[in-house]
Formats: sequence, C-alpha cells, structure tokens
Amino acid sequence: MQNCGTALDEPRVRGVLDRIGGRRGWDPGEEPALDRLLRGRDASPALGDALEVYRTGSFASPPEVGLLLYSAVRSVQPDVVVELGTSYGFSTLHIAAALRDNGHGTVVTTEADPRKVRDATWNFTAAGLESHVEVLPGDAATTLKGFGDQVDLVYLDGWVGSYLDALTVLQPALRPGAQIYANATRRFGVLARPYLDHVRDSANGFYSLEMPLGHGLEASTYVSRDPAAVPA
Ligand SMILES: C[S@@+](CC[C@H](N)C(=O)[O-])C[C@H]1O[C@@H](n2cnc3c(N)ncnc32)[C@H](O)[C@@H]1O
Repeated sequence: MQNCGTALDEPRVRGVLDRIGGRRGWDPGEEPALDRLLRGRDASPALGDALEVYRTGSFASPPEVGLLLYSAVRSVQPDVVVELGTSYGFSTLHIAAALRDNGHGTVVTTEADPRKVRDATWNFTAAGLESHVEVLPGDAATTLKGFGDQVDLVYLDGWVGSYLDALTVLQPALRPGAQIYANATRRFGVLARPYLDHVRDSANGFYSLEMPLGHGLEASTYVSRDPAAVPA
C-alpha cells in the first residue's frame, strides 16, 4: 500500500517507526523464545511466563498489520480505540497516526511491562502523536475495565490467553459495528481456541474470519449487544 501524505509519512513519525522497526521491529529472530514456551511441557503457560518471554524483545506487529490498522481506523472513524499489548508502540503509532489524520480520537493502550510503558510513552512523544494516546500500565484484566458505551475498534496483541477475558470485559463498551482484530491467533494454536470459538459463534454477537496476515489476524465485527437480535 502506498502512503499518500499521511501522518505515517511525517518525518517524526517515520523516524520513530523506522527506529522501532530497525532495532526492535518485527524480528523473526524473536520468535523461537515464544515457540519454546508454546511447545513446553506445560500445555497452558501462565501469563507470567509469557510476560517473561515478551520482556526479551519487541514482538512488534508485522508491517502489513500496522497498515491494516491504519486503514481500519481511517474507515471506522473511531472515537475510542483500545489496544492490548503496547510493547514499544509500533502498532499504537499506526493507530495514532490514523486518528491524527481523522482529526479526532484516542487510542487507549495497555502494557504490563513498566520498562516498555516508559519507552513507548517516550516514543509517542518523539513522534508527536502523544495527544492521541493514553497508556494504561498493568495487566489488561484490570486496566480494561470501566469504559463507557464508546469503543469502536479493538486490537488484541498480547498473550492469547488474555484475549477472551479482555473481550468479555470490553464487550459492554462495544458500539454496534465495532471492529475487533486479534493478532497471531494461528500461531497460538489450541490456546487461541476459547477466543476463536467465542467470536465465531454468532450467538455471542460477532461475525468473524481469519485474515491471512502475519501469524493469522482474526477480524471480528460486533453486530449486536442482544444475541436474540442476531439473525440465525
Ligand atoms: C506482541 S507484543 C505487542 C506488540 C505491539 N502491539 C506492537 O505492534 O509493537 C505483546 C505485548 O503485550 C504485553 N502483554 C501481554 N499480555 C498482556 C496482558 N494481559 N496485559 C498487559 N500487557 C500484556 C507484553 O508485555 C508485550 O509487550
């Protein structure tokens, strides 16, 4: 996709994205640590073990997922975007750049690693996009509570075991038509099952399919708060 004078092309934004991309961006070399965790003796690793692995690198979203998020935010025109998994801010910056180009909106992003919270916050300021970003330090299980009836777009990009809990906490705040993107669901295999089963069952109010980006990006639309209103 070609960028035609978007905030992604602003030198401050591009500079930070390139720096994250060059030094800490999507790096297949980081993947073995996560693979080892997923193939370990414990069939269902705990969040704490996953966070230890995430601490060792960026695990940034693939560039094509960043561009998809930019595009989706331009299309949906959200007031509030919620992200699980900030890391150093690669995906957050794509979302914030789109919000800047829309002229309104905030991305609220949550991250459990305090060092990444600090570095990402610095990156948002360096890119000049800090007015479109709010960072919530801590585990998504507690930080994502208390949104009003206002969330238009969600990006889940952390430990897959957190996805269903995060969506359940956020569901009362989703506006009808809200888009939910869940990254890397294919690579997590059986651990992603409870989340995928939930969003692929229209009785729960979602329509969902996997997009062939990165390690599988599950794209879901929230069609109704009232399961009875969803056509069979
Ligand atoms: C795949 S990386 C996120 C990459 C980021 N979205 C990007 O594109 O640069 C996952 C991040 O989520 C964080 N994380 C994982 N599970 C979390 C949870 N339950 N609550 C908060 N942060 C979490 C990890 O510390 C890690 O930094």
